[in-house]
Amino acid sequence: MRRCLAGIGHFPPFFLFATTHITMRIALTLKPGLLAAALLLGACNDRVKDTHPQRWVSQRQAAFKQLTKALEPMGLVARERQDYNKAEFQSQALELQELSGKPWAYFTPDSNYPPTRAKPSVWQDAAGFKQAQDSYQARVAQLAKVAGSADVPAIRSAVDAVEKSCKACHDQFRNER
Ligand code: HEC
Repeated sequence: MRRCLAGIGHFPPFFLFATTHITMRIALTLKPGLLAAALLLGACNDRVKDTHPQRWVSQRQAAFKQLTKALEPMGLVARERQDYNKAEFQSQALELQELSGKPWAYFTPDSNYPPTRAKPSVWQDAAGFKQAQDSYQARVAQLAKVAGSADVPAIRSAVDAVEKSCKACHDQFRNER
């Protein structure tokens, strides 16, 4: 939020140029609109744009968002907030497995630049980062394996294990905002 307010702080000098009455009125009507747009675009959190021609950071962040979305319905089943349905759960687990291979290719050697949240250790400890991917993928595979079993406790522990390995990698390789 402090960064957000700092961002808003960039606006006033522009409005100082609004000398005539009419310009002033336009400025006053525009200003709330600009602020709302800045908020809607998430300008508070990610004011730095990904200007790399390949947009590696944006691409991998989008891939991670897809993982979050794919995992969510299975989390509900694991926490018994949604009934287990074999066919549905199996297809959700397969989807997660398919999506889980995607983010890694976007961590290219030239992709450590703002607005990334990746820690430098992603590049400094490439073997450790690869190991975190492998252990995550193994847990996703285990989830896919038990997905059709109707054994809810086994499914729950497989979902837990996946969530823990997301977090383990984040603790080691991702910065807090
Ligand atoms: C092997 C490491 C690793 C694993 C496993 C991993 N992540 Fe991440 N994740 C990262 C890193 C590194 C970033 C930061 C990417 C960046 O900003 O460049 C990230 C970023 C994210 C983001 C933020 C995207 C954004 O818009 O900024 C989300 C959400 C996320 N991960 C969800 C997940 C979920 C859910 C899982 C498990 C299903 C998962 N991740 C597994 C390393 C990992």
